[in-house]
Amino acid sequence: MRVLVTGGAGFIGSQVVRSLERAGHEPVVLDVLLPRAHAAVPEPPGREFLRVDVRDADGVRTALRGIDAVCHQAAMVGLGKDFADAPAYVGCNDLGTAVLLSGMAEAGVRRLVLAGSMVVYGEGRYDCPRHGRVRPGPRRPEDLAAGRFEPPCPECGAALSPGLVGEDAPADPRNVYAVTKLAQEHLSAAWARSTGGSAVSLRYHNVYGPGMPRDTPYAGVASLFRSALARGEAPRVFEDGGQRRDFVHVRDVAAANVLALEADAPPGGTLTPYNTGSGDPHTVGEMAEALARAHGGPRPVTTGEFRLGDVRHVTADPSRLRRDLGWTPEVGFAAGMEEFARAGQRASAAVVG
Ligand SMILES: NC(=O)c1ccc[n+]([C@@H]2O[C@H](COP(=O)([O-])OP(=O)(O)OC[C@H]3O[C@@H](n4cnc5c(N)ncnc54)[C@H](O)[C@@H]3O)[C@@H](O)[C@H]2O)c1
Ligand SMILES: [Zn+2]
Repeated sequence: MRVLVTGGAGFIGSQVVRSLERAGHEPVVLDVLLPRAHAAVPEPPGREFLRVDVRDADGVRTALRGIDAVCHQAAMVGLGKDFADAPAYVGCNDLGTAVLLSGMAEAGVRRLVLAGSMVVYGEGRYDCPRHGRVRPGPRRPEDLAAGRFEPPCPECGAALSPGLVGEDAPADPRNVYAVTKLAQEHLSAAWARSTGGSAVSLRYHNVYGPGMPRDTPYAGVASLFRSALARGEAPRVFEDGGQRRDFVHVRDVAAANVLALEADAPPGGTLTPYNTGSGDPHTVGEMAEALARAHGGPRPVTTGEFRLGDVRHVTADPSRLRRDLGWTPEVGFAAGMEEFARAGQRASAAVVG
Protein backbone atom coordinates (compact mmCIF):
# COMPACT_ATOMS: atom_id res chain seq x y z
CA MET A 1 0.00 0.00 0.00
CA ARG A 2 1.16 3.51 -0.74
CA VAL A 3 0.20 5.45 2.39
CA LEU A 4 0.32 9.21 2.86
CA VAL A 5 1.37 9.83 6.47
CA THR A 6 0.58 13.42 7.42
CA GLY A 7 2.62 14.58 10.42
CA GLY A 8 5.03 11.79 9.45
CA ALA A 9 8.03 13.74 10.79
CA GLY A 10 6.50 13.94 14.28
CA PHE A 11 6.89 11.76 17.35
CA ILE A 12 4.16 9.24 16.52
CA GLY A 13 4.10 9.75 12.73
CA SER A 14 7.78 8.87 12.35
CA GLN A 15 7.18 5.57 14.21
CA VAL A 16 4.19 4.85 11.98
CA VAL A 17 6.39 5.44 8.93
CA ARG A 18 8.99 3.00 10.25
CA SER A 19 6.36 0.37 11.05
CA LEU A 20 4.76 0.74 7.61
CA GLU A 21 8.15 0.25 5.93
CA ARG A 22 8.86 -2.79 8.05
CA ALA A 23 5.50 -4.25 6.98
CA GLY A 24 6.44 -3.76 3.31
CA HIS A 25 4.31 -0.68 2.57
CA GLU A 26 5.36 2.53 0.88
CA PRO A 27 4.90 5.53 3.18
CA VAL A 28 4.98 9.06 1.79
CA VAL A 29 5.59 11.70 4.47
CA LEU A 30 3.76 15.01 4.44
CA ASP A 31 4.75 17.43 7.20
CA VAL A 32 5.14 21.19 7.44
CA LEU A 33 7.68 20.81 10.29
CA LEU A 34 5.82 23.07 12.66
CA PRO A 35 8.38 25.16 14.58
CA ARG A 36 6.85 24.29 17.95
CA ALA A 37 7.27 20.58 17.18
CA HIS A 38 10.65 20.93 15.48
CA ALA A 39 13.04 23.60 16.74
CA ALA A 40 15.27 22.82 13.77
CA VAL A 41 14.62 21.17 10.43
CA PRO A 42 15.24 17.44 10.89
CA GLU A 43 17.68 15.41 8.83
CA PRO A 44 16.34 14.92 5.32
CA PRO A 45 14.54 11.60 5.57
CA GLY A 46 15.62 8.82 3.24
CA ARG A 47 12.08 8.37 1.98
CA GLU A 48 9.60 10.44 0.09
CA PHE A 49 9.11 13.63 2.03
CA LEU A 50 6.91 16.60 1.17
CA ARG A 51 7.20 19.75 3.23
CA VAL A 52 3.57 20.71 2.84
CA ASP A 53 0.98 22.22 5.14
CA VAL A 54 -2.23 20.16 5.32
CA ARG A 55 -4.11 23.44 4.86
CA ASP A 56 -2.49 23.91 1.43
CA ALA A 57 -5.01 22.44 -1.06
CA ASP A 58 -2.57 22.38 -4.01
CA GLY A 59 0.17 20.76 -1.98
CA VAL A 60 -2.27 18.16 -0.66
CA ARG A 61 -3.62 17.45 -4.15
CA THR A 62 -0.10 16.73 -5.42
CA ALA A 63 0.70 14.61 -2.38
CA LEU A 64 -2.39 12.43 -2.91
CA ARG A 65 -1.40 11.25 -6.39
CA GLY A 66 -1.14 7.46 -6.46
CA ILE A 67 -2.03 7.14 -2.76
CA ASP A 68 -4.13 4.16 -1.54
CA ALA A 69 -4.77 5.30 2.03
CA VAL A 70 -4.13 8.25 4.33
CA CYS A 71 -2.84 8.03 7.89
CA HIS A 72 -3.57 11.48 9.33
CA GLN A 73 -1.26 12.30 12.25
CA ALA A 74 -0.58 15.98 11.56
CA ALA A 75 -1.91 18.23 14.31
CA MET A 76 -0.95 20.84 16.80
CA VAL A 77 -0.84 18.90 20.05
CA GLY A 78 -0.99 19.55 23.78
CA LEU A 79 -2.90 21.93 25.95
CA GLY A 80 -1.20 25.08 24.65
CA LYS A 81 -0.31 28.16 26.64
CA ASP A 82 -3.58 30.05 26.71
CA PHE A 83 -6.68 30.80 24.67
CA ALA A 84 -4.66 32.89 22.20
CA ASP A 85 -3.55 29.55 20.70
CA ALA A 86 -7.13 28.69 19.67
CA PRO A 87 -6.99 29.92 16.04
CA ALA A 88 -3.74 28.03 15.42
CA TYR A 89 -5.20 24.80 16.85
CA VAL A 90 -8.39 25.10 14.86
CA GLY A 91 -6.45 26.02 11.72
CA CYS A 92 -3.98 23.12 11.77
CA ASN A 93 -6.31 20.50 13.14
CA ASP A 94 -9.75 21.26 11.68
CA LEU A 95 -9.25 23.43 8.61
CA GLY A 96 -6.25 21.18 7.84
CA THR A 97 -8.40 18.04 8.13
CA ALA A 98 -11.13 19.56 5.95
CA VAL A 99 -8.63 20.43 3.22
CA LEU A 100 -7.11 16.95 3.39
CA LEU A 101 -10.51 15.22 3.25
CA SER A 102 -11.70 17.32 0.35
CA GLY A 103 -8.48 16.42 -1.49
CA MET A 104 -9.16 12.75 -0.77
CA ALA A 105 -12.75 13.07 -2.00
CA GLU A 106 -11.48 14.58 -5.25
CA ALA A 107 -8.65 12.05 -5.70
CA GLY A 108 -10.88 9.05 -4.90
CA VAL A 109 -8.87 7.98 -1.85
CA ARG A 110 -11.39 6.08 0.27
CA ARG A 111 -9.38 4.92 3.24
CA LEU A 112 -8.52 7.01 6.30
CA VAL A 113 -6.89 6.25 9.63
CA LEU A 114 -7.05 9.26 11.93
CA ALA A 115 -4.94 9.96 15.01
CA GLY A 116 -7.80 10.48 17.45
CA SER A 117 -7.49 11.18 21.13
CA MET A 118 -8.90 10.24 24.50
CA VAL A 119 -9.36 13.94 25.18
CA VAL A 120 -12.71 13.75 23.37
CA TYR A 121 -14.18 12.09 26.48
CA GLY A 122 -13.31 14.82 28.96
CA GLU A 123 -13.46 13.25 32.42
CA GLY A 124 -13.45 9.47 32.37
CA ARG A 125 -16.15 7.14 33.63
CA TYR A 126 -17.34 7.53 37.20
CA ASP A 127 -19.78 5.61 39.38
CA CYS A 128 -21.54 6.93 42.47
CA PRO A 129 -22.54 4.39 45.14
CA ARG A 130 -26.07 5.91 45.15
CA HIS A 131 -26.54 7.27 41.62
CA GLY A 132 -24.68 4.78 39.47
CA ARG A 133 -23.00 6.10 36.35
CA VAL A 134 -22.63 9.92 36.61
CA ARG A 135 -20.90 12.63 34.61
CA PRO A 136 -19.08 15.15 36.80
CA GLY A 137 -18.79 18.63 35.33
CA PRO A 138 -15.56 20.60 35.05
CA ARG A 139 -13.72 20.85 38.35
CA ARG A 140 -14.08 24.18 40.15
CA PRO A 141 -10.96 26.34 40.60
CA GLU A 142 -11.76 26.82 44.30
CA ASP A 143 -11.92 23.03 44.84
CA LEU A 144 -8.62 22.53 43.07
CA ALA A 145 -6.97 25.36 45.01
CA ALA A 146 -8.16 23.73 48.25
CA GLY A 147 -6.65 20.39 47.20
CA ARG A 148 -10.03 18.78 46.47
CA PHE A 149 -8.95 17.12 43.25
CA GLU A 150 -11.49 14.30 42.97
CA PRO A 151 -14.65 15.40 41.13
CA PRO A 152 -17.64 14.70 43.42
CA CYS A 153 -20.95 13.17 42.39
CA PRO A 154 -22.92 15.96 40.67
CA GLU A 155 -26.11 14.72 42.39
CA CYS A 156 -25.07 14.12 45.99
CA GLY A 157 -21.42 15.16 46.29
CA ALA A 158 -20.32 11.65 47.28
CA ALA A 159 -16.89 10.28 46.40
CA LEU A 160 -16.88 8.48 43.03
CA SER A 161 -15.00 5.47 41.76
CA PRO A 162 -13.33 5.85 38.35
CA GLY A 163 -13.76 3.18 35.66
CA LEU A 164 -12.82 2.43 32.04
CA VAL A 165 -14.43 4.49 29.26
CA GLY A 166 -15.90 2.70 26.27
CA GLU A 167 -16.05 4.18 22.75
CA ASP A 168 -19.76 4.87 23.10
CA ALA A 169 -19.29 7.22 26.06
CA PRO A 170 -20.56 10.70 25.22
CA ALA A 171 -18.01 13.21 24.02
CA ASP A 172 -17.24 16.08 26.40
CA PRO A 173 -14.18 18.01 25.19
CA ARG A 174 -12.82 20.30 27.91
CA ASN A 175 -10.30 22.48 26.08
CA VAL A 176 -9.58 23.87 22.62
CA TYR A 177 -7.29 21.02 21.60
CA ALA A 178 -9.93 18.48 22.65
CA VAL A 179 -12.57 20.34 20.65
CA THR A 180 -10.37 20.22 17.55
CA LYS A 181 -9.71 16.49 17.96
CA LEU A 182 -13.44 15.82 18.24
CA ALA A 183 -14.14 18.00 15.20
CA GLN A 184 -11.56 15.99 13.22
CA GLU A 185 -13.65 12.88 13.90
CA HIS A 186 -16.90 14.57 12.93
CA LEU A 187 -15.35 15.90 9.71
CA SER A 188 -13.99 12.43 8.91
CA ALA A 189 -17.39 10.86 9.55
CA ALA A 190 -19.02 13.44 7.28
CA TRP A 191 -16.42 12.70 4.58
CA ALA A 192 -17.09 8.96 4.93
CA ARG A 193 -20.85 9.45 4.60
CA SER A 194 -20.51 11.68 1.61
CA THR A 195 -17.91 9.63 -0.33
CA GLY A 196 -18.61 6.07 0.88
CA GLY A 197 -15.08 6.03 2.26
CA SER A 198 -14.17 4.21 5.44
CA ALA A 199 -12.56 5.91 8.40
CA VAL A 200 -11.05 4.70 11.64
CA SER A 201 -10.16 6.96 14.55
CA LEU A 202 -7.56 5.55 16.89
CA ARG A 203 -8.21 7.45 20.09
CA TYR A 204 -4.73 7.43 21.56
CA HIS A 205 -4.17 7.54 25.25
CA ASN A 206 -1.00 9.15 26.70
CA VAL A 207 1.62 8.08 24.19
CA TYR A 208 5.24 7.94 25.36
CA GLY A 209 8.53 6.52 24.22
CA PRO A 210 11.73 7.35 22.41
CA GLY A 211 11.61 10.42 20.20
CA MET A 212 9.03 12.18 22.38
CA PRO A 213 9.46 15.94 22.10
CA ARG A 214 11.20 17.65 25.01
CA ASP A 215 9.49 19.95 27.45
CA THR A 216 7.46 22.62 25.73
CA PRO A 217 4.06 23.82 26.93
CA TYR A 218 2.79 21.27 24.44
CA ALA A 219 4.75 18.20 25.60
CA GLY A 220 3.28 15.27 27.46
CA VAL A 221 3.89 14.85 31.16
CA ALA A 222 6.21 11.86 30.78
CA SER A 223 8.45 14.08 28.70
CA LEU A 224 8.48 16.86 31.31
CA PHE A 225 9.48 14.38 34.04
CA ARG A 226 12.14 12.83 31.86
CA SER A 227 13.65 16.26 31.15
CA ALA A 228 13.67 17.22 34.84
CA LEU A 229 15.54 14.01 35.67
CA ALA A 230 18.03 14.71 32.88
CA ARG A 231 18.75 18.07 34.56
CA GLY A 232 19.26 16.29 37.89
CA GLU A 233 15.98 17.67 39.26
CA ALA A 234 13.06 15.87 40.88
CA PRO A 235 9.97 15.46 38.67
CA ARG A 236 7.28 17.86 39.88
CA VAL A 237 3.94 16.06 40.06
CA PHE A 238 0.81 18.20 39.95
CA GLU A 239 -2.28 17.74 42.15
CA ASP A 240 -1.64 14.88 44.58
CA GLY A 241 -0.21 12.53 41.94
CA GLY A 242 -3.33 10.35 42.01
CA GLN A 243 -4.55 11.24 38.48
CA ARG A 244 -5.12 8.02 36.55
CA ARG A 245 -4.02 7.71 32.96
CA ASP A 246 -3.14 4.99 30.50
CA PHE A 247 0.42 5.27 29.21
CA VAL A 248 0.75 3.53 25.87
CA HIS A 249 4.06 3.00 24.10
CA VAL A 250 4.64 4.69 20.76
CA ARG A 251 5.64 1.42 19.04
CA ASP A 252 2.33 -0.14 20.08
CA VAL A 253 0.48 2.90 18.75
CA ALA A 254 2.36 2.63 15.46
CA ALA A 255 1.43 -1.06 15.26
CA ALA A 256 -2.24 -0.17 15.77
CA ASN A 257 -2.04 2.22 12.81
CA VAL A 258 -0.57 -0.46 10.55
CA LEU A 259 -3.24 -2.98 11.61
CA ALA A 260 -5.99 -0.42 10.99
CA LEU A 261 -4.62 0.33 7.52
CA GLU A 262 -4.21 -3.36 6.63
CA ALA A 263 -7.52 -4.61 8.05
CA ASP A 264 -10.46 -5.34 5.78
CA ALA A 265 -11.98 -1.95 5.19
CA PRO A 266 -14.69 -1.28 7.76
CA PRO A 267 -18.11 -0.61 6.25
CA GLY A 268 -17.97 2.34 3.85
CA GLY A 269 -19.71 5.51 4.93
CA THR A 270 -18.79 5.25 8.58
CA LEU A 271 -16.14 6.19 11.11
CA THR A 272 -15.20 3.56 13.68
CA PRO A 273 -13.50 4.82 16.86
CA TYR A 274 -11.06 2.62 18.77
CA ASN A 275 -9.64 3.37 22.21
CA THR A 276 -5.91 2.93 21.86
CA GLY A 277 -4.48 2.41 25.32
CA SER A 278 -2.60 -0.35 27.12
CA GLY A 279 -5.61 -1.27 29.29
CA ASP A 280 -3.28 -1.04 32.31
CA PRO A 281 -3.93 2.35 34.00
CA HIS A 282 -1.41 3.99 36.31
CA THR A 283 -1.34 7.22 38.25
CA VAL A 284 0.83 10.12 37.19
CA GLY A 285 2.62 9.76 40.53
CA GLU A 286 3.43 6.10 39.77
CA MET A 287 4.76 7.11 36.39
CA ALA A 288 7.05 9.74 37.94
CA GLU A 289 8.30 7.17 40.48
CA ALA A 290 9.00 4.60 37.75
CA LEU A 291 10.97 7.12 35.69
CA ALA A 292 12.94 8.41 38.69
CA ARG A 293 13.80 4.84 39.72
CA ALA A 294 14.93 3.85 36.24
CA HIS A 295 16.92 7.04 35.78
CA GLY A 296 18.47 6.84 39.25
CA GLY A 297 17.45 10.45 39.94
CA PRO A 298 15.76 12.25 42.86
CA ARG A 299 12.33 11.04 43.99
CA PRO A 300 9.39 12.99 42.57
CA VAL A 301 7.83 15.82 44.57
CA THR A 302 4.08 16.33 44.67
CA THR A 303 3.31 20.03 44.35
CA GLY A 304 -0.47 20.44 44.55
CA GLU A 305 -0.32 22.69 41.47
CA PHE A 306 -3.00 22.19 38.84
CA ARG A 307 -4.07 23.22 35.36
CA LEU A 308 -7.71 24.09 34.85
CA GLY A 309 -8.07 22.19 31.56
CA ASP A 310 -6.82 18.93 33.05
CA VAL A 311 -9.20 16.12 33.89
CA ARG A 312 -8.74 14.01 37.00
CA HIS A 313 -9.00 10.46 35.69
CA VAL A 314 -9.44 9.14 32.20
CA THR A 315 -8.69 5.57 31.29
CA ALA A 316 -10.10 3.75 28.34
CA ASP A 317 -11.19 0.25 27.61
CA PRO A 318 -9.21 -0.94 24.55
CA SER A 319 -11.04 -4.25 24.12
CA ARG A 320 -12.71 -3.26 20.83
CA LEU A 321 -9.30 -2.64 19.25
CA ARG A 322 -8.02 -5.97 20.55
CA ARG A 323 -11.09 -7.80 19.29
CA ASP A 324 -11.60 -6.20 15.87
CA LEU A 325 -8.02 -5.63 14.81
CA GLY A 326 -6.21 -8.29 16.83
CA TRP A 327 -4.02 -5.63 18.44
CA THR A 328 -1.94 -6.63 21.46
CA PRO A 329 0.24 -4.01 23.11
CA GLU A 330 3.72 -5.45 23.56
CA VAL A 331 5.52 -2.91 25.73
CA GLY A 332 4.48 -3.14 29.40
CA PHE A 333 4.52 -0.16 31.79
CA ALA A 334 7.68 -1.10 33.74
CA ALA A 335 9.77 -2.03 30.71
CA GLY A 336 8.54 0.93 28.66
CA MET A 337 9.26 3.49 31.38
CA GLU A 338 12.68 1.94 31.96
CA GLU A 339 13.51 2.29 28.27
CA PHE A 340 12.09 5.82 28.11
CA ALA A 341 14.08 6.95 31.16
CA ARG A 342 17.28 5.93 29.40
CA ALA A 343 16.42 6.78 25.81
CA GLY A 344 17.32 10.06 24.16
CA GLN A 345 14.62 12.57 23.47
CA ARG A 346 14.04 14.68 20.48
CA ALA A 347 16.00 17.81 21.24
CA SER A 348 15.99 20.43 18.58
CA ALA A 349 14.93 18.18 15.74
CA ALA A 350 12.68 15.23 15.15
CA VAL A 351 14.17 11.81 14.79
CA VAL A 352 13.26 11.10 11.22
CA GLY A 353 14.88 7.87 10.25
N1 LIG B 1 1.34 12.28 21.94
C1 LIG B 1 0.19 11.87 22.48
O1 LIG B 1 0.17 11.42 23.63
C2 LIG B 1 -1.08 11.93 21.68
C3 LIG B 1 -2.28 11.53 22.33
C4 LIG B 1 -3.46 11.56 21.62
C5 LIG B 1 -3.46 11.95 20.28
N2 LIG B 1 -2.30 12.34 19.67
C6 LIG B 1 -2.37 12.73 18.25
O2 LIG B 1 -1.33 12.06 17.55
C7 LIG B 1 -0.92 12.84 16.44
C8 LIG B 1 0.60 12.98 16.43
O3 LIG B 1 1.03 13.63 17.62
P1 LIG B 1 2.54 13.65 18.13
O4 LIG B 1 2.50 13.42 19.60
O5 LIG B 1 3.36 12.76 17.27
O6 LIG B 1 2.91 15.19 17.90
P2 LIG B 1 4.11 15.86 17.06
O7 LIG B 1 4.01 17.33 17.29
O8 LIG B 1 5.41 15.19 17.37
O9 LIG B 1 3.74 15.52 15.57
C9 LIG B 1 2.78 16.24 14.83
C10 LIG B 1 3.39 16.54 13.48
O10 LIG B 1 2.39 17.21 12.70
C11 LIG B 1 3.04 18.25 11.99
N3 LIG B 1 2.02 19.29 11.67
C12 LIG B 1 1.33 20.05 12.54
N4 LIG B 1 0.53 20.89 11.88
C13 LIG B 1 0.69 20.64 10.56
C14 LIG B 1 0.14 21.19 9.37
N5 LIG B 1 -0.75 22.19 9.43
N6 LIG B 1 0.52 20.69 8.18
C15 LIG B 1 1.44 19.67 8.11
N7 LIG B 1 2.02 19.13 9.21
C16 LIG B 1 1.65 19.61 10.42
C17 LIG B 1 4.12 18.76 12.92
O11 LIG B 1 5.17 19.43 12.20
C18 LIG B 1 4.61 17.47 13.56
O12 LIG B 1 5.69 16.89 12.87
C19 LIG B 1 -1.66 14.18 16.58
O13 LIG B 1 -2.79 14.14 15.71
C20 LIG B 1 -2.12 14.20 18.03
O14 LIG B 1 -3.30 14.97 18.20
C21 LIG B 1 -1.11 12.35 20.35
ZN1 LIG C 1 -24.35 10.48 43.95
